Amino acid sequence: MVLEQRGVTIWFTGLSGAGKTTIAKFLEKDLRKQKYKVELLDGDIVRQNLSKDLGFSKENREENIRRIGFVANLLTRNDVIVIVSAISPYRQIRDEVRLQIRDFVEVYVNAPLSVCEKRDVKGLYKKARTGEIKGFTGIDDFYEPPLNPEVECQTDCETITESVTKVWTQLKRFGYVHSEREALTPIRNA
Ligand code: ADX
Repeated sequence: MVLEQRGVTIWFTGLSGAGKTTIAKFLEKDLRKQKYKVELLDGDIVRQNLSKDLGFSKENREENIRRIGFVANLLTRNDVIVIVSAISPYRQIRDEVRLQIRDFVEVYVNAPLSVCEKRDVKGLYKKARTGEIKGFTGIDDFYEPPLNPEVECQTDCETITESVTKVWTQLKRFGYVHSEREALTPIRNA
């Protein structure tokens, strides 16, 4: 274990398909390789467990974010590095969570809607366009970008390595990690 590990929540927000989970997973691997205690709370997985009862109305999304924030806070204050990957589309609830968690790094994973839609990794944009899914973020539900994120990744014009390194560099600057990111994980863009 790393001596004197400080807990922090690294909160990835952005549209579906922007690349939140991809960056989050590589960051998790790199941190683990350097023996940091890490937990990843991924929106898709949380929704199969902790938030099984929730849908995608504004109230339900807020409740989802509140729950994720609650767990993240418990872990963070026990010196775990928590990585959250969730669309978390609404600014107010994100800011509420930020206020609760003392150590909080917001990462805006920014890719234009047109790029996310073209990627359509899960085929959900297509369904949203045909009306099969209602209230889909970016199509018929809104996304409010962070105003002052600690990090912004632009996944339409950066490699995954560049994005992960950007986050790592900020973590180092704030004193949550101590060494440079080791390029241990060969990362290839799809
Ligand atoms: S959040 O808005 O509450 O933060 P979360 O990140 O947990 O969302 O879940 C988003 C995932 O749920 C998407 O990646 C997608 O797979 C799925 N999903 C299903 N319906 C919707 C919808 N209406 N809007 C956005 N994502 C949806």
